[in-house]
Parts: sequence; structure tokens; C-alpha cells
Amino acid sequence: MSPGVGGAFAERIVIDAQALCAIPGEMSFEQAAALPTAFGTAYQALFETGKLRAGQRVLIHAGAGGVGSMAVQLAHQAGVRVIATASARDVELVKSLGTDEVIDYRTQDFTALRDIDLVFDPLGGVTLEK
Ligand SMILES: NC(=O)c1ccc[n+]([C@@H]2O[C@H](COP(=O)([O-])OP(=O)(O)OC[C@H]3O[C@@H](n4cnc5c(N)ncnc54)[C@H](OP(=O)(O)O)[C@@H]3O)[C@@H](O)[C@H]2O)c1
Repeated sequence: MSPGVGGAFAERIVIDAQALCAIPGEMSFEQAAALPTAFGTAYQALFETGKLRAGQRVLIHAGAGGVGSMAVQLAHQAGVRVIATASARDVELVKSLGTDEVIDYRTQDFTALRDIDLVFDPLGGVTLEK
């Protein structure tokens, strides 16, 4: 759905074909409806605003969160080295999504990291200040 068009609850809509993509066969309508917001947010931040590219290093905060988990997968698939913050209980989850290095945000200090090309921060507040 193009954000500028509206009418998301209409039964029929006229829209530019370029704004559409086919739902893969293995994906349900519910999954397809839910994915674009989080994935689109992550994609725009990493690649359209952040200009992230293969070979770079990205720090992704809240790697187990809705947007963060999408960012991890997209960055990993693009050949980027991914460092993510998460709680200890989510370490295996974020690793399984493509994170190379996990920082437990409750016990470790991410500000010690060096040579990071881009920081993806869906948290703000204290994390952003740091
Ligand atoms: N979800 C979407 O589709 C979407 C789309 C556009 C924009 N947004 C915006 O993006 C922001 C994030 O949304 P979200 O849906 O991704 O949130 P979320 O899924 O609720 O994120 C929660 C995650 O953040 C982790 N977390 C909390 N404090 C942390 C810290 N200090 N350092 C590292 N990780 C921390 C939590 O870990 P623990 O549970 O272990 O504490 C949890 O895994 C919000 O402002 C939201 O409005 C969301």
C-alpha cells in the first residue's frame, strides 16, 4: 500500500503496479499484511537513509525486537557484519537471524565498540544519548 494513497480497508483500490509485489507461495495473507511495516522501516533506515553496503559493520539495537529483528536479517543478507544488542535470553534468537556478535545490553557496554559504520537505533532515549 502506498502511504500517500490511503483506503487500506477498501475492498478494491486502483494503485500503481510498481507499488505492488506478489506474495510468495509459502506466505499467508496475514503474514504478508504484517511484514511490510517492520521490514519497510528497517529497509529504509538501513539502505535508503543509512546507505549501508556490503563489507560494512552495523550496530543494531534491540535486535530481538520487531524492527530490529528485520534489520538484522536484511543487513546479514546484504553481506554486512552485524553486531546487535539484546537480552541474554535472546542471544540465540538474534544469532539465528544472522547476527555475528551479540551484546547483552543489560550487562555489557556497547559504547566500547569501535569501527562501526552505521548505528540502527529503534529505542532512542538513553541509548541514543550514549
Ligand atoms: N514494529 C513495527 O512494525 C514498527 C514499524 C515502524 C516503527 N516502529 C517503531 O520502532 C520502535 C521499535 O518498535 P519495535 O516494534 O521494534 O519494538 P519491540 O518489538 O517492542 O522491541 C522490544 C525489544 O527491544 C529490546 N530492548 C528494550 N530495551 C533495550 C535496550 N536498552 N537495548 C537493547 N534492546 C532493548 C527488548 O528486549 P527485552 O525484552 O529483552 O528487554 C525487546 O527485544 C518503536 O518506536 C515503534 O513505534 C515499529
